[in-house]
Amino acid sequence: MPMKETARPVLTAVAWPYANGPRHIGHVAGFGVPSDVFSRYRRMRGDRVLMVSGTDEHGTPIQVQADREGVTARELADRYNRVIAEDLQGLGLSYDLFTRTTTRNHYAVVQELFTALFANGYVVERPQLSAVSPSTGRTLPDRYIEGTCPICGDDSARGDQCDNCGNQLDPQDLKDPRSRINGETPRFVESPQFFLELPAFAEALGSWMQSRVGWRQNVLSFSSNLIADLKPRAISRDLDWGVPIPLPDWRDRGDKRLYVWFDAVIGYLSASVEWARRTGDADAWRQFWQNPDATSYYFMGKDNVVFHSVIWPAILLGASGKPDGTPGELGPLALPSEVVSSEFLTMEGKKFSSSRSVVIYVRDVLERYGPDALRYYLAAAGPETSDTDFTWEQFVTRNNTELVAGWGNLVNRSLSLVHKNLGAIPAAGTFTEADQAALAGSRAGFDSVGDLLGRNQQKAALAEAMRVVGEANRYLSDQAPWKLKDDLPRRDTVLHVALQLIDDAKSLLTPFLPHSSEKVYAMLGGTGTWSGMPELREVEDLDGGPGYPVLMGDYATEAVWESRPIRPGVPIGPPVPLFTKLDPSIVEEELQRLAGEADPAADPVT
Ligand code: MF3
Ligand code: ZN
Repeated sequence: MPMKETARPVLTAVAWPYANGPRHIGHVAGFGVPSDVFSRYRRMRGDRVLMVSGTDEHGTPIQVQADREGVTARELADRYNRVIAEDLQGLGLSYDLFTRTTTRNHYAVVQELFTALFANGYVVERPQLSAVSPSTGRTLPDRYIEGTCPICGDDSARGDQCDNCGNQLDPQDLKDPRSRINGETPRFVESPQFFLELPAFAEALGSWMQSRVGWRQNVLSFSSNLIADLKPRAISRDLDWGVPIPLPDWRDRGDKRLYVWFDAVIGYLSASVEWARRTGDADAWRQFWQNPDATSYYFMGKDNVVFHSVIWPAILLGASGKPDGTPGELGPLALPSEVVSSEFLTMEGKKFSSSRSVVIYVRDVLERYGPDALRYYLAAAGPETSDTDFTWEQFVTRNNTELVAGWGNLVNRSLSLVHKNLGAIPAAGTFTEADQAALAGSRAGFDSVGDLLGRNQQKAALAEAMRVVGEANRYLSDQAPWKLKDDLPRRDTVLHVALQLIDDAKSLLTPFLPHSSEKVYAMLGGTGTWSGMPELREVEDLDGGPGYPVLMGDYATEAVWESRPIRPGVPIGPPVPLFTKLDPSIVEEELQRLAGEADPAADPVT
């Protein structure tokens, strides 16, 4: 579909998964499905979307898992970069570029932003206490220190953050600190680090925050509280795995690297630059970052909010020369329009954890039940604004009643009737009031569902789309075309209306169920591609590093957000099934599988 003149640039910035294990359904409930629903919808509206992300491959989450698996950090990152790209591809997430943080391009962009911040005085060197393990002499990463939170008193706070009260911490703030690896008490020694001067951005961040509209209330109040109390934040670490510090005395030191979160958030920009370079117009990223008409939406789980509503905007301000200074080499950069955060998904009442066998991997669900069944569940029952629980029983129920008996059955019985009796889409005669009401109700769905999607109320949007499907099912039952053998013109009109309702519904459901919508599109005679799917491509590093797999795709497809009249005369073959009815016995099977999969060594600390 050609882009409309009015196409607005929209950046969909998706949180970067750590390359430390396959993705479980809790991960993709937070950043994956919501960002794809958003992007597909905006593309259907005619907006120019750039959806970027990649694997987050530095820092202690990778280093520690590598130690556990007995491989180097690089080997671990290589392995899981590919595994994760495959997981996300299988789910049909429409990344314009899914890359990784170990590319040379990423290193260069990260170092460029550090340099700009440093030149403007927003990054300064200062000594800091860092934790060392007395038994090994190695530096203990923040996340591997546990203790009592000095703010709320919770006794399982980590060295970087307290999950109970949400505050950022430094390890030496913890009362009774202990190593999560072996329980010993760390020793604190002084060592130089680089700090991001967050207090310098207090005013600029405050007025940015105040001008935000449409944010989910919990994200807004949480972020505002953080901005009210800013402290300098260390952005370097005693570690040998990460992006080197681009200063003369530091560049070649083996023991200091930039903090993983500093490099990872810059990935949104470096991936945009990489995408532009790969598409042949090296400046194309600028329309998403330096254009006043552009907007940007960041998708993540709630534990990532502080990095996106405080640290990343501060980096962007400082590198743009604000509040005072000069913009770095890349020029001024836009702050996020909205941080869209989800809450947590639990599994049968427990937090996801591979060591406690509370884990369901994306690829297993894809293999057994297909992508749209999982997408549907996560969109319909996911943790959009509060923690929610995944249960296999609910998964089976929703699949069987809503997808199979609801949407799938509407398509199946209508198309079977048309195929058997007519073999092609019938023309309509005169519409009755009931026909007109059904068609108008279906068309109105584009406004009602679209309005909710526009506000990222995706659960409500899907419920509304399924209500429209329910109305279509009711129309078909009421009009009962199978009983109209003696009034064939009327029967054909009813079937025509039913097919139009189905065609509309497949469009309304496309952001959520792109795979099955594609099938419906094809069954109704559509040509070309309706929902673009990501492809896994092997590419060369643009600057001479080792090659790697990326996800890219062509999403300029036929899909549009409006009711399109169906075309009488188009041949209709026998319907292909859209969804599979699940036997209730799989609930027990899956629960047993979970119990059997316990692997005490496999819990990546994130
Ligand atoms: N890897 C982090 C996590 O899984 C998310 C990083 S998001 C980005 O929690 F900001 F770094 F991009
Ligand atoms: Zn706390």
